[in-house]
Parts: sequence; C-alpha cells; structure tokens
Amino acid sequence: MSTFPLTRLRRLRSSGALRSLVRETRLDLDSLVYPLFVGPTTQPNEALPALGRFSVDDLVAEAEELRGLGVPAVILFGIPDEKDEQGSGAWDDEGVVQRALRALRASAPSLVLVTDVCLCEYTSHGHCGVLEGEEVANDATIELLARTAVSHVEAGADVVAPSDMMDGRVAAIRGALDDAGFGATPILSYAAKYASAFYGPFREAAESAPAFGDRRGYQMDPANVREALRECELDVAEGADALMVKPALPNLDVIRAVRERFDLPVAAYNVSGEYAMIKAASASGWMDERQAALESLTAIKRAGADLVVTYWAKDVASWL
Ligand code: PBG
Repeated sequence: MSTFPLTRLRRLRSSGALRSLVRETRLDLDSLVYPLFVGPTTQPNEALPALGRFSVDDLVAEAEELRGLGVPAVILFGIPDEKDEQGSGAWDDEGVVQRALRALRASAPSLVLVTDVCLCEYTSHGHCGVLEGEEVANDATIELLARTAVSHVEAGADVVAPSDMMDGRVAAIRGALDDAGFGATPILSYAAKYASAFYGPFREAAESAPAFGDRRGYQMDPANVREALRECELDVAEGADALMVKPALPNLDVIRAVRERFDLPVAAYNVSGEYAMIKAASASGWMDERQAALESLTAIKRAGADLVVTYWAKDVASWL
C-alpha cells in the first residue's frame, strides 16, 4: 500500500472546482420535502419560521411561492379548530387538511402533496390514537387512520404518510385505499419512528403534546436498531412504498442499516428539534446556519436517505 509522501489526499482538495468534481454526495432540491402547517388562522413563528402556520388562503400563496422556487413536495400537518377524544377532525371532509388539499390541488397542480396521517393533532388528549383507559388502543386506531388516509386522498393528496406507529396500520390504510379505488396512491411509512425529545418544537407548533404520559408505548426506543429493521420489514410486507426513519441526525446508523437491507426508497425526517438547535445556535452567533444546515442534510443523504423532509427545504432553494 502506497503511503506518504507518494499519497497526498490534500491534492484533490486544493480548489472548490476540484472538490466539487470528486464530491461523493450531492444535495439537490429535487429530493427535499417541506413541511407545512395549516390552521384556522395564519400565525408566523419568528424564531422558527418554517414552523409557522397558515390559513388555507395564505397556504395557497405559500405553495405557489414554493413551487416558483423549485421545491418539489410538501407534507401537510393540520391544526384543527376543535379537538375531541377520537380525533374526528382528522377524517372530516371539511377538516383543515382536506380544505387545504382541495385548494392546493387547484392552485399548485405540480406540487407533490404528501399528508401526515396521525390523530395527535386532533385528539383532546394529544395521543396518536384513541384511548382505552390510559392506553392507546391499537386496532381501533388503525381503522380511524385508514379513514383519515382515504379522506386525504379524496381531497387530493398524492402520497399518505402514517406517523402514528400503530401495528398493522400500513395494511389497514392500503386495504382502505384500494377499496376506495385509490390503488395507485403510494404510502410513505414512518416505519422507524423513535420516541424522541427532538419533536419538542413541532409539538408546540402543532399543539400536539400528549396531555399525560408520553409516546413510548407506541414510538420506538431510541436504543434499538434491529427493531427498526423489523418495523421496516413488516411495513414492506403490508404494502409500504417507501420507508422513513425519524429523527434523522441521531439515527444516521439506522438510515444506513435500512438503506442496506431494503430496496425501497428511504426517507429521513430532519425534525423540528434538529432545525431548532441550529437556529438557536446561529441566533447566538455560535454557528453559521447555512453551513450547518447544508452539512446536516448532506450527512443525512450520505447515510443513505433518498429523500429528506426538512424545514430548510425553502432556504435550500435559495442557497443552492
Ligand atoms: C405526528 C408527528 C410528529 C412529528 C411528525 N408527525 C410529532 C410526534 O410524533 O410527536 C414530529 C416532526 C418534527 O418534530 O419535526 N405524530
């Protein structure tokens, strides 16, 4: 094996153009998905702009701007006017996401519309499904998730993304979509979703923090990677079209493991806490936001993600 001074790895780092020629991982806007929050009224978020929420009317303008910038896809989250025990706003044909979908379908036909399918933003207790005592009832919940997914597709969703972590929900959603005549609509499953502290800013923005307890009875233990592969395997068997790992940065090894084991497209969710940490550090002058964000997104792709859900998608459109 040749060694120094024959080998000098710095030779290929000597200019920006050379570095770019030999770059192994490239970040492109085409593989990014931007989260959008829709609620009864528009409420900007000053510290974390991408976590602000839009009324349906303002959302239409935002989506048109995104499409103009070249952002290819969005994932929608709804913050309803009223919540109840069942989370019935989730599958209401006049629900906030359903109205947003109809408006966006008409105004931005080329934008890929993904919807997050979960009940936590719609339940009065903030859990991701219906309760039996203090437990989330799995089998009753998946029926409601399936109803929610069908109502999203009826309203214009291109892709549905269940994020609840109930067992059997991909099969339930696939069956319900097929029965409703939506056999062509793909399911992007949040297959390996961990019970994570990094969802904090999202829960504040979406008003979806659980009123008691936590989500560890259904979301995954961050200590486990083999279990993540079992989750993925089951979701593939149930008909998932793409697999998501979430959060992204604490789980780059999981993204890599999923990439190596499965041939489905792999998505990663660069979550609200990952965004907030860099936003806060850059507001304090400790980090350069653009560099830190691009480094994070490149690392997530290098780990094996094909697509990345990120609060920086809109910024990346102007940075690249
Ligand atoms: C809904 C959902 C959550 C996120 C995406 N979908 C919150 C949670 O599970 O508590 C978090 C996204 C983020 O933090 O950016 N279940």
